[in-house]
Amino acid sequence: MKTENRGSFSSKIGVILATVGTAVGLGNVWRFPYIVGENGGGAFLVIYILSLLLLGIPGVIAEFIVGRHSHANAVDSLKKLAPKTKWHWIGYSGVLAGFLIMGYYAVVVGWTLEYLTQAILGNLSGMTVEQYGQVFDQFAGHPYWPLVWMVIVMLISTFVVARGVSGGIEKISNVLMPVFFLIILVMVANSFFLPAAGQGMKYLFLPNFSELEPVAILIAIGQTFFSLSLGMGCLITYSSYFKKDVSLAKTATQVVSIDAMVAILSAMIIFPAVFSFGMQPTEGPSLVFKVLPNVFQQMPLGTLWSILFYALLFIAAITSLISLLEVVTAYIYENTSLTRRKAAFIVTGMVSVLGVFASMSFGLLQDVTLFGKTFFDLLDFVTASILLPVGGFFISIFVGWFLDKRIIATELRIKHPKAHLFIKGYIYMLRFFVPACIFAVFLYSLLG
Ligand code: PHE
Repeated sequence: MKTENRGSFSSKIGVILATVGTAVGLGNVWRFPYIVGENGGGAFLVIYILSLLLLGIPGVIAEFIVGRHSHANAVDSLKKLAPKTKWHWIGYSGVLAGFLIMGYYAVVVGWTLEYLTQAILGNLSGMTVEQYGQVFDQFAGHPYWPLVWMVIVMLISTFVVARGVSGGIEKISNVLMPVFFLIILVMVANSFFLPAAGQGMKYLFLPNFSELEPVAILIAIGQTFFSLSLGMGCLITYSSYFKKDVSLAKTATQVVSIDAMVAILSAMIIFPAVFSFGMQPTEGPSLVFKVLPNVFQQMPLGTLWSILFYALLFIAAITSLISLLEVVTAYIYENTSLTRRKAAFIVTGMVSVLGVFASMSFGLLQDVTLFGKTFFDLLDFVTASILLPVGGFFISIFVGWFLDKRIIATELRIKHPKAHLFIKGYIYMLRFFVPACIFAVFLYSLLG
């Protein structure tokens, strides 16, 4: 195993921006608004925030403890902390999940780049609602264009990952994340001036619990894992590059808060816009591709808003794709004689094959389904609904029950000498509360 020159994030702000870069992604800007739309608005938001606080923060801290203490990738970290046991299988499941998520995530990141290009070329205007729908269906179902974009976004990610931790990942996050926050703030400010701003905000912030179905709890927990990049060793990998003076609890709280804030801000951009132009937020996954172009074209300076929005989506997505590639690359790189660049290239090649099938789920393979799901949907379901929660369950059990308590104490006391006051409560949450919630969700989905 290569351990020399592993690299680390060079500054505290780099730690935050890179970790926020992995967490903030399509999950916040694309997935969150449409699942809030499908699950009745404000009440769902309340459940989601509870899930972030009670499962998200403890889960993120647990992965941080494992990563920073072992200074190794998702698999070897567990091998180091629990030698001669099977715990490192959580790491294998994580590497596998990273690979499978990339298979469809890269396809959607490709779509965002296509839409950004079309917006810049001024082609996203002058159509009817139906035409926007058709344009998306035709593009997504095209035999090769989505694949070309997918390969491009994978190559961009490969380029960044090949340059290493501080020279690649940290650098790109330091540039892109501030741009991201600038764009999102400009767009939210604009939202307040739209005709149905009030209706959109009410829909998002006024909870109506009578409309909440129990399955929404399950969806909120799934979203927590997906959005925080939790349960697959991504945060183990990233925190293995944290220096010894980074406060884990503080970083976790900051990252979870920023992630939640971005999801809410994205919804604050999308709902007022959708309501102002007579559309509905219940469109599902294609909301931001089929519905929004039509909304933007009706706004003053429409082309500008659509360029900004797809740039926002692309930045969010590419930094997450980079983190997914890093999880798999770090594992291969540290266990073979390959260079980072070669390892990243090999993963990119393999992901591209998977991406061909995921992309064809919108075209040639549209009608080929397994358990009623297309290949694309299957990748999403197996990862977000199974591998991530199962991963989170076992990481929680591992840190709560098996990891030496002195390691937890050492890691959490850094910067917080009085941490022992809450360490007991924290361990209790990891032992009982977090696994029980995840287990309950599984039971419910099996029986339901
Ligand atoms: N958190 C990312 C998002 O919200 C997705 C992701 C999941 C990235 C798991 C890395 C690992 O889009």
